Amino acid sequence: MTTFTKLGDGDTPLIEVDAKKILSKIDPLMYGGFTEHMGRCIYGGMYDPGNALSDERGFRKDVLDALRDLDIPVIRYPGGNFVATYHWLDGVGPRDKRPKRPELAWLGTESNQFGTDEFMEWLSVLSEGKKQRVEPYICLNMGTGTLDEALAWVEYCNGTKDTYYANLRRQYGHEEPYRVKYWALGNEIWGPWQVEQMTKEDYAKKAAQWAKALRLLDPSLCLILCGETGHSSWDHHVLKECVSVVDMHSIHIYTASAQHVTNVTAPLSAERAIQTAAALIDIARIENQVPASKPRTMICFDEWNVWDPERAPGEQGAEERYTLSDALAVGVWLNVFVRQSRYIGMANIAQTVNVISPLLTSATGLVKQTTWWPLLLFSRYMRGWTVAAHVSCSAYEGPTTPAWLQGVLDGGAPWLDVSAVVDEEGFLNVVVVNISDEHDFETRLVGVVGPIGVHTVSGSGPQARNTADDMEAVGVRESSWDGEGSFVFGKHSLTLLRWKAA
Ligand code: AHR
Repeated sequence: MTTFTKLGDGDTPLIEVDAKKILSKIDPLMYGGFTEHMGRCIYGGMYDPGNALSDERGFRKDVLDALRDLDIPVIRYPGGNFVATYHWLDGVGPRDKRPKRPELAWLGTESNQFGTDEFMEWLSVLSEGKKQRVEPYICLNMGTGTLDEALAWVEYCNGTKDTYYANLRRQYGHEEPYRVKYWALGNEIWGPWQVEQMTKEDYAKKAAQWAKALRLLDPSLCLILCGETGHSSWDHHVLKECVSVVDMHSIHIYTASAQHVTNVTAPLSAERAIQTAAALIDIARIENQVPASKPRTMICFDEWNVWDPERAPGEQGAEERYTLSDALAVGVWLNVFVRQSRYIGMANIAQTVNVISPLLTSATGLVKQTTWWPLLLFSRYMRGWTVAAHVSCSAYEGPTTPAWLQGVLDGGAPWLDVSAVVDEEGFLNVVVVNISDEHDFETRLVGVVGPIGVHTVSGSGPQARNTADDMEAVGVRESSWDGEGSFVFGKHSLTLLRWKAA
């Protein structure tokens, strides 16, 4: 958590951090990814057979290398909206026998050349050299899919006995069970764009029944309820009905604005959403008299990012071209997760390749977009435990996107957006996003011990972009600071300060 005191415009900002004030463990699953059968995420992104940059299985090696740098702990699959008409059996077995199907979420054709077994194989290649494998997280089809089909999918993935779908997996060459722990009970079932959209009442009844059956088949599953934004009556109702039978509650939010300051402050709406969802979880526990022995339902923020669907429509592959402003918004998003880590069981940036992604492939290479850099810095350094920080500075008090945010920001949005962690090696890591595109802030820091490593993400202006011809328009600059005097946080920048805690 970071607390805030609003100062006047001319006052010198102050940031105080204390490594001893540990607040909550950051779940490593917070740095999760998401791959959907959408646009060029799977086909042409992670899977590109015949391309010189792919291995013999068709997996793009440049994409795998980049994702290994991020040390991603978990990846959600296969959607997203796509899953509402997906029949997993179409995507297993001999490739030449797999049916091509119309795809109703993004209005394409699904070839089914990449399915459950390919996803699991891709994850195992991605996991090479890691201490722990990258966990699969599968979303069930609660649109046109049946409970029987869902049970069969779990049995195919996890079955160890002499049963039909476990044997089918063996027959297709996969003797060992995949041990898929994380399963979502549908995706955005509340959305009018969804095939088989449901009311909250109908969904809650169905989710409870599915959860019961899935647990009978495999008690080790971690089941994730389909929430909405975290602050809706859908969230309230489904939690009230299902809190006792699920392990996590999923919420989705995308933010975007053409105007820089509203773009970078928009992720603060997700902070309010997390706090509200956490309160709804508590209310549901109270109403259902959930015993203290049942661990608190955590929030699974399994789709988040900067995305404007009008600028980059889903049907056209949602290939956002991100600016420095968007990178700083991603920095604020990640600061939000660190500050609220006590409530977060998992978070997944949507998505991992090409579709609203920091990575863009072409036939001949890979562009790391502006948003890659904050993600890399957070994934590398902002792990361990959230520690208390206090920021005193002036604030932005103008209109926001969404509009309601302005009314719930106590004292406005601090010009310096801050989160702090202490990691396993005893390093203090602090991220400061200067959201202003006009002012540098000379700032006093209390609790810093030199020498301090400094990583700065910035560029010529909020609209700077990385392209194949200029991959470094926005990148990371490394320097050091002796910790003496004050530190200047430049306008439109993200700074990570790192030092060994005393
Ligand atoms: O991530 C893109 C889409 O956004 C997902 O398919 C859907 O769940 C959300 O609306």
